[in-house]
Formats: sequence, structure tokens, C-alpha cells
Amino acid sequence: MPNPSLHSIPSVQAPLHLLLEADPSTELIAGYLHDCHCVVARLGEATVGVYLLKALGAETWELMNIAVAPEHQGRGIGALLLRHAIDQARQLGAKRLELGTGSFGHQLTFYQRAGFRVVAVEPDYFLTHYPEPLFENGLQHRDRLRLALTL
Ligand SMILES: CC(C)(COP(=O)(O)OP(=O)(O)OC[C@H]1O[C@@H](n2cnc3c(N)ncnc32)[C@H](O)[C@@H]1OP(=O)(O)O)[C@@H](O)C(=O)NCCC(=O)NCCS
Repeated sequence: MPNPSLHSIPSVQAPLHLLLEADPSTELIAGYLHDCHCVVARLGEATVGVYLLKALGAETWELMNIAVAPEHQGRGIGALLLRHAIDQARQLGAKRLELGTGSFGHQLTFYQRAGFRVVAVEPDYFLTHYPEPLFENGLQHRDRLRLALTL
């Protein structure tokens, strides 16, 4: 498989169908999309992945969303995007990169492999922020973990 190319684009042009793979709330996405740094992965003409970074403060940024098209998952594109997001945050002046994710599932392994550590738990986050229950592998997501990486 050819390597995807990575491109910075205006965040308002981010592919919503991919963002929804990571965050199934159009309302929440609309709330953070406009002031994000956006990078997409392309294979030829097709956009196959995306991430969004947002400044929380001068030296702390958050990875707001990262997703790979389902038919292209499991081939290293997510890991490529995550490494790029970490480097990009560093170049933007970040000393710390944070994110929120579910308390179980392969995403947690994915982030911890890149060095992220669990720094907090937000109990019932997914129950209070999403209108529909979120299930993965037959288990309902309830609590959100905050993860952080020192850059
Ligand atoms: C999380 C995500 C971005 C990973 O992208 P990807 O391109 O599939 O990831 P990679 O191919 O780079 O795999 C990296 C590691 O993630 C893990 N992984 C990825 N997909 C997995 C799956 N479906 N099941 C189990 N592990 C998986 C593996 O441990 C893999 O390590 P390996 O190299 O030993 O196989 C992708 O699964 C995705 O878009 N998921 C839906 C959106 C989402 O959940 N985003 C994160 C919200 S917190």
C-alpha cells in the first residue's frame, strides 16, 4: 500500500464523516472545530484520516479528534497521524498534549503506546454529554479518561 500524504487544511474543511467516527456528536464537533489546527491523510485523491489539535493555553494543547476511515484502519495510518500530531503540537509551542478518551477499548492502547498517561477520570462524561448511549464491543461507555503526554 502506498504511504498516505499528510496535509494541513482549514479546520472548517475537515471531513465531518471521519470526525464523527471518533466523536458521534455534531454539536460537540461544531463547538471545537473552528479554532483547531487540522491535518488530513490522503491516499491519492481520497481523504482517509484526520486529526484536530486545539490550544487550551499557551503551552497545553488538546488532541480533539483523530480518526481513520474504517476501511483503512489497522494499517498504521492512525499511528502515523498520532506521531505527526505530537510533533505538530511540539512545533506549535506545546509542552503538554492532552486528550479525552473512553475508559476501555483499543483507542486506550493506541494512545498509551505513544506514551500518553492517564491523569484524570471524568465519571459519567459519556452519559451526560451524548444524547444516545455509546456502545463498543457490547459495553456502554460511561466514564471518560483524560490522558496527557509531556512533550
Ligand atoms: C483509533 C484509530 C484512529 C486508530 O487508527 P488505525 O489506523 O486503525 O491505527 P493503526 O493501524 O495505526 O494501529 C495502531 C495500533 O492501534 C491498535 N488498533 C487499531 N485499531 C484497532 C482495532 N480495531 N482493534 C484493536 N486494536 C486496534 C493496534 O494496537 C495497533 O497496533 P499494532 O500496530 O500492534 O497493530 C482508528 O481505529 C479509528 O479511527 N477509530 C475510530 C475513531 C476513534 O475511535 N478515534 C479515537 C477517539 S478517542
